[in-house]
Amino acid sequence: MRLIAASLAHAPLLAALHAQAFPPAERWDEQAFRQILALPGSLAWLADEHGFVLARVAADEAEIITLAVLPLARRLGIGAGLMAQAMQHAQDLGAAAMLLEVAEHNHAARALYAGLGFTQVGLRKSYYADGSNALVLKADLSPSPQVPGNTHLT
Ligand SMILES: CC(C)(COP(=O)(O)OP(=O)(O)OC[C@H]1O[C@@H](n2cnc3c(N)ncnc32)[C@H](O)[C@@H]1OP(=O)(O)O)[C@@H](O)C(=O)NCCC(=O)NCCS
Repeated sequence: MRLIAASLAHAPLLAALHAQAFPPAERWDEQAFRQILALPGSLAWLADEHGFVLARVAADEAEIITLAVLPLARRLGIGAGLMAQAMQHAQDLGAAAMLLEVAEHNHAARALYAGLGFTQVGLRKSYYADGSNALVLKADLSPSPQVPGNTHLT
C-alpha cells in the first residue's frame, strides 16, 4: 500500500472516497474537505485511491476527523495503515494524544481503534443525526521512554 500526503488538490478525491464509504446522509462535499484541509494543523493521507484519513493537530492534541476505506478494499490493513501514519505524523507535529468519535454501533471501526490502543474516555448521547451515541476514544501518542543501552539492572 502506497501512502501519499494529501493536499487541497485532493479534495475532489477525498469527497469521492468519502461518498463511497459513508451513507448518503453523512457525506461531505469537496468544499467541506477544502475548508478542513486549509485549517492550520490539518493532515491527510491517502492509501492510493482506496481510502484516506483526515486529522488535525492543535497544540498537544490531535483529532481524527474522518477515516474511510472503500468497501471492496476493506480488511486488507489499509485502515490500520492510515491510522498508524496519522498517529506518527501527529506525534511528529507535537501531539501527545489523539482523540476521535465513533458511533457506538460501528463495530468495525471500534475494533480497529481498540487494536491501535484507543480506549473510551467519554460518551456523547444522540450525537449523530440518526440518534445514535458517539463514543469518545483516546490514545496516548507519547513515545515510550528510552532505556539506556549501558544501564546495568541490579
Ligand atoms: C472502519 C474502516 C475504516 C476499517 O478499514 P479497513 O481497511 O477495513 O481496516 P483494516 O483492514 O485495517 O482492519 C484492521 C483491524 O480492524 C478490525 N476490523 C476492521 N474491520 C472490521 C470488521 N468489519 N469487523 C471486525 N473487526 C474489524 C480488525 O481487528 C482488523 O484486523 P484483522 O483484519 O487482522 O482482523 C472501514 O470499515 C470503513 O471505511 N468503514 C466506513 C467508514 C467508517 O466507519 N469510518 C470510521 C468512522 S469513525
